[in-house]
Parts: sequence; C-alpha cells; structure tokens
Amino acid sequence: MADIVPLRSVPDAAVESLLDHAFGTDRFGRTAYRLRKGTQPIAELSFAMTDEDGGLLGSIQCWPVMLARDGGACDPLVMLGPVAVEPAAQQGGIGKTLMRATLAAWEAGNFPPLMMIGDPEYYGRFFGFSADDTSEWVIDGPVERRRLLALAQPGHSVPRFGRIVPRPA
Ligand SMILES: CC(C)(COP(=O)(O)OP(=O)(O)OC[C@H]1O[C@@H](n2cnc3c(N)ncnc32)[C@H](O)[C@@H]1OP(=O)(O)O)[C@@H](O)C(=O)NCCC(=O)NCCS
Repeated sequence: MADIVPLRSVPDAAVESLLDHAFGTDRFGRTAYRLRKGTQPIAELSFAMTDEDGGLLGSIQCWPVMLARDGGACDPLVMLGPVAVEPAAQQGGIGKTLMRATLAAWEAGNFPPLMMIGDPEYYGRFFGFSADDTSEWVIDGPVERRRLLALAQPGHSVPRFGRIVPRPA
C-alpha cells in the first residue's frame, strides 16, 4: 500500500533521482532553484509517497522565501515545489494526494502564504492558486507571469509588492 511519509525519511539520492525523471537533469538552472539556494526544505510541509516496498513514487517540498521591499521590510512566504511524480505513476492521483498533505499541514500551522512557479491549469484548477496578486512581484530569472502563483490562508491576503528572495533561517 502506498504511504505518505516525511520527506526527510527518504534518502536524498532517491529524491534527486525522482526529480531527474520528472523534470530532467537540466532542472538546476530554473528560477525556482535559485530561490531555494542556501535554504533547507521546511520539514513539516515536505512529504514523500512510497510504495509497499519503500520505493519512491512522488515528493513535494516547501522552502522559506520572502518578498523583500525597498527600505528593508519583508513579508515571509513559503515556496511550494517541486511536486514530482514518477512518470510511470503519473495521472493516478499521487500529485493531488501530496498536495493535499502539504496544504493540510500548512492550514493547520502558523505558516505564511504559499507561492510557486507551476501550471495554473493544475495548481489553480484543483487547489485555488492564482497569479492575480503576483503581477507586481520582482523575481530574478525568467518566469512566465501566468505561472507565478500564490495562495493565502482564508481571511488572509497575498502581499503584492517586493522581490522574491531566499529567507535565511
Ligand atoms: C504535475 C504532477 C505533479 C501531477 O501529478 P499526477 O499524480 O501526475 O496528477 P494527478 O493524478 O494528481 O492529477 C491528474 C489530473 O491533473 C491533470 N494534470 C496533471 N498534470 C497537469 C499539468 N501539468 N497541467 C494541467 N493539468 C494537469 C490531469 O489531466 C488530470 O486531470 P483530470 O482529473 O481532469 O483527468 C505530475 O504529473 C508530475 O510530476 N509531472 C512532471 C513534472 C511537471 O511536468 N510538472 C508541471 C507542473 S509544475
């Protein structure tokens, strides 16, 4: 039976191999990779799905980033991603299950709004992410603005202005 486990219980090499299969080995130049440089995944929001033999089927990671404004003020954010499912296991609900696990932990905890670079046709359609509030964000590196997505907790808003940078521990 497939199982959701904390990501930190899975060997790094297995996660890297999964990411190679899902995104390709040239993924390191992506804008999102630069944003997580020098930070560690947020353990409470990062999960893996394993099969009955302990093989890795999918993973989801979250990272501390922030919107920094001129003058030194900043708003913390959580960057979600990558979400990755082994190609042979895609389209079987694993991505949604991993997303639901992270969103449930995020909603239960005292976490800032989420942001991500991802397909609105998936993350908007199923989970409510939107690019509506990110149009003024400054981000270093190429990004399709329609794929720069955010989600706030109910009753909270997404900060509108600043440059996305890693959030030091
Ligand atoms: C994107 C990904 C995480 C989705 O997980 P999954 O387990 O394959 O998909 P799920 O079973 O949770 O969801 C399936 C549904 O999402 C849709 N879907 C899956 N990936 C999609 C995408 N990139 N864009 C739009 N819709 C997508 C499917 O069409 C299906 O829709 P349906 O329910 O109407 O049939 C996974 O396919 C993956 O790792 N892909 C490789 C990485 C990638 O291309 N990422 C792009 C997004 S950043």
